[in-house]
Amino acid sequence: MTVFKYTGLIVGCLIVVSCQQPKKQVIWQSYSGDPIIEQKVDSVLSLMTLDEKIGQMNQYSGNFASTGAVSDNQSGEYLKRGMIGSTFNVFGADHLRMLQEQNLKYSRLKIPMLFAADVIHGLETTFPIPLAEACSWDLELMEETARAAAEEATASGVAWNFAPMIDIARDPRWGRVMEGAGEDVFLASAVARARVRGFQGISDYRDLSKPNTMMACAKHFVGYGAAQAGRDYHSVDVSERSLYDTYFPPFEAAIDEGVTSFMTAFNDLNGVPCTANNYLYKDILREAWGFKGMVVTDYTAIMELMHHGFARDLKHGAQLSLDAGIDMDMISEAFVTHLKELVEEGKVSEKQIDVAVSRILEMKFLLGLFDDPYRYFDAERQKQVVMSEANQSLARQAAQQSIVLLKNEGKLLPLSTDQALKVALIGPFVDERASLNGEWAIKGNRSRSVTLREGLEAKYKGTGVQFTYAKGTDLPLLDRSTMKASKDNQPDERGFAEAIKVAKASDIILVAMGENFHWSGEAACRTDITLPGNQRELLKALKQTGKPVVLVLFNGRPLDLSWEAENLDAIVEAWYPGLMAGHAVADVLSGAVCPSAKLVMTFPRNVGQIPIYYNAKNTGRPFDAKAPSDYKSSYIDVDNTPLFPFGHGLSYTTFEYTNIMLNAESFEQGEAITLKADIVNSGDYDGTEIVQLYIRDRVASITRPVKELKDFRKVALRKGETKTIEFTIDEALLSFRDRNLNWTTEPGEFDIWLGTSSNDESNHFVISFN
Ligand code: NOJ
Repeated sequence: MTVFKYTGLIVGCLIVVSCQQPKKQVIWQSYSGDPIIEQKVDSVLSLMTLDEKIGQMNQYSGNFASTGAVSDNQSGEYLKRGMIGSTFNVFGADHLRMLQEQNLKYSRLKIPMLFAADVIHGLETTFPIPLAEACSWDLELMEETARAAAEEATASGVAWNFAPMIDIARDPRWGRVMEGAGEDVFLASAVARARVRGFQGISDYRDLSKPNTMMACAKHFVGYGAAQAGRDYHSVDVSERSLYDTYFPPFEAAIDEGVTSFMTAFNDLNGVPCTANNYLYKDILREAWGFKGMVVTDYTAIMELMHHGFARDLKHGAQLSLDAGIDMDMISEAFVTHLKELVEEGKVSEKQIDVAVSRILEMKFLLGLFDDPYRYFDAERQKQVVMSEANQSLARQAAQQSIVLLKNEGKLLPLSTDQALKVALIGPFVDERASLNGEWAIKGNRSRSVTLREGLEAKYKGTGVQFTYAKGTDLPLLDRSTMKASKDNQPDERGFAEAIKVAKASDIILVAMGENFHWSGEAACRTDITLPGNQRELLKALKQTGKPVVLVLFNGRPLDLSWEAENLDAIVEAWYPGLMAGHAVADVLSGAVCPSAKLVMTFPRNVGQIPIYYNAKNTGRPFDAKAPSDYKSSYIDVDNTPLFPFGHGLSYTTFEYTNIMLNAESFEQGEAITLKADIVNSGDYDGTEIVQLYIRDRVASITRPVKELKDFRKVALRKGETKTIEFTIDEALLSFRDRNLNWTTEPGEFDIWLGTSSNDESNHFVISFN
């Protein structure tokens, strides 16, 4: 407390002193647009030496979760010189209080350090991986889990989140698909907004000053999801049109929602690495979109400019990145080592540095760090908030809403609690605990997540449902020294016989399989996306018993389930559900919760179909499965259609779409059409339907996708209940970017589909815009 008062006093004095100096020319545009904040920033800046300024642009990792070379860095040295602006992936109110004290001891002007972290899906209370949560299509829920994550993170000292990750991803080989919201631009943009709202947490987003809100970071700008061949960090070559139509929109949405920071992408984009890309950061981000927050590089990304063959050396990299408009250097020590020299040589100007530092200082002011550098280190609040009952119950709810029922032949599921049933529980995920949080569970305790067996036993305790167990096989692991799937240590078939014995003595086989969590996430790409190891072999053996088989999957990417979809009775995609995994899956399997989630990424039939996504173009030779013919756009060895399309997800109940009415079939500029429909729960369970609205522009001056998601409603319906939903189709909904990339809506006919999935063509209408 003493230190706080002392610091506050110093900063106060600095501001008073500097206010008496001649007014500085405004060299930067503030995020807040608040003249008082601007004046404060200018005041501090005017007192800073060049070294102190450059120090603010320097960021280190606490090495808690390093995602690259752990540099033999000079952090201790720079700390003593007051030259660290930010540290990331460090946690704990007490620990960070101590770090801040040290920083303030050495910082001549008492400039607080900003602590950041990758709080991707919860801090200690781990929510489902973001890809899973996106399958809930529940924007309020995603805002709530982001809010809860921010509550826990800020109570643990962290005020800047390296999330949300909003890269559109259409290649399930790429391990990082687990971090995003899938393949669709409309949905992913809405999710980006929800998460930014949740982290920054306030209705007036320009006020970050509450101690339980944090800066969000839109990452990775841009195109990272289009890494060639689904291999992480690989080159990206996409047209300007693809950038505008596909990869930019979630980032624009995040800005619109007030996101305070951006992170660069590792990849080069059309020949220029993102971390030194003037077009991206100057022309697009700052000029075209007017973004006024701060930009940080990704981990060692300036250093990597040399590997890209774009910078001669680190000094050159520092110059190129600063020129591109980057404000903070994560890990590379490029700015802190070389910027001063570059200024002295006249290769960069101090003015450029002032702009970057102003952006950083503004964030520190907005977060309230200058008023109280210790405001995020509240050990008492940390105790109350972290893993609170409320957050744990939210984790269970989020997991329930994320589980996708892919197949349910003969209504095999749910396995109700009021029957007598012998269930053989088989597979490496029955007792697996460590993997349930998935990757990027930054502080999620891997020994606390509820296993499937624990969840099932709790759910069915005292009922006539009895479980017998055999593991059957193991999950193949990664050899962490080579980062390759281990060749020598492959699971063998020794457990198969016991599994078959247990299966034969049961009424139904419940198999839990998937990927070890190291098999998805950063730097975890696969060329074969079937179930790893010999899991499919075990499934084949179990199928031979003739008993019905239910497969529950725990994984971080769409898998090739071609054999499983054809041969098994039911498939439940649970993803990595987080802390409450076992409970949430048991809730769904038992029917206590009716599944409602829908895929946000297409499941291909095999890797050869990749990239496969629902809103592709029609081509000049579209293949018509109803009238097949030669020389059409198709494969000779597999259908064009995916195994499970975007938007797919089954329920235990049934929904009917009735009384669908359009109040007009055509409209003109300034008008709109209203589409109304009654959604009826005609089945035997209370349930929730996600109603999806798709359009197709039949003829346009630019070829348009065969379908585009334009809106959706998540409708909760009791058994027998009917609700009316309404959509507005206006000019904006039909618009697209023309040849010059300007928004336009062209007159003509449009197909409209209202359905339960992207391949549902049952409710089809044609409207025209005149
Ligand atoms: C590398 C990842 O690409 C990025 O998303 C993350 O924020 C940083 N490492 C910091 O951990």
